[in-house]
Amino acid sequence: MPKLGVNIDHVATIRQARGGMEPDPVLAARVCEAAGCDSIVAHLREDRRHMQDKDLYLLRKTVRTLLNMEMSIAKGIVKVALDLHPDQATLVPERRLEVTTEGGLDCVKHARRVASAVDKLQSRGIAVSLFIDPVRKQIKAAHETGCEFIELHTGEYANARNGHELKEQLNKLIEATKYAKGIGLRVNAGHGLDYNNVRAVAGIEGIEELNIGHSIISRAVFTGLDKAVKEMIALLTQSSG
Ligand code: PXP
Repeated sequence: MPKLGVNIDHVATIRQARGGMEPDPVLAARVCEAAGCDSIVAHLREDRRHMQDKDLYLLRKTVRTLLNMEMSIAKGIVKVALDLHPDQATLVPERRLEVTTEGGLDCVKHARRVASAVDKLQSRGIAVSLFIDPVRKQIKAAHETGCEFIELHTGEYANARNGHELKEQLNKLIEATKYAKGIGLRVNAGHGLDYNNVRAVAGIEGIEELNIGHSIISRAVFTGLDKAVKEMIALLTQSSG
């Protein structure tokens, strides 16, 4: 059964809608951990649209599992990460106008910049994961940066419009995981996973952790966060037979 990392960005999205104190992402992290998740994921975007620097610093003090900071390779953000010292950094591409992270990091095109960020973070003892599309040339390029983990982008799988596309995308993820494990990388996955589509991905042998945000926070509006996290964990448990 893969581990579950809960991305709590959208708790901060709701708070930022009014610019006040509620709901508090730090409290959300506590609830997710008490419900049994394995790590807390928070994305400090350059535009600070949801998580703020102070949230990350408070999370660093309060998270008892692992803090996984999602981040771009922009200089200012790398500087924050080096100071904050999360347990893990997941490097993602970032465009200001995007609604969410759209594609994987292009480790071929930006090989030198990515490798430099990986190196800086690792030199402070931060484990690094690269969020990439499930294609061989990206996996190979990611490996060449010296990162420990990759996180396979499951967005295309999540967006599949029919059974045929779903199977095709699932096979891509299976193949990518095999290839990555074969060259010595550790593999996580995430983006767009929900209560309906998560089981097949959770069943892929070799995937260590799934990072899930939007669907859990959305369900929490109706069920409460504790129940939403526990229901996701129950699905992951079922996937391992
Ligand atoms: N993993 C990465 C690298 C992401 O950028 C995101 C979105 O912030 C997620 C996982 C979680 O995606 P979702 O919110 O669609 O579950």
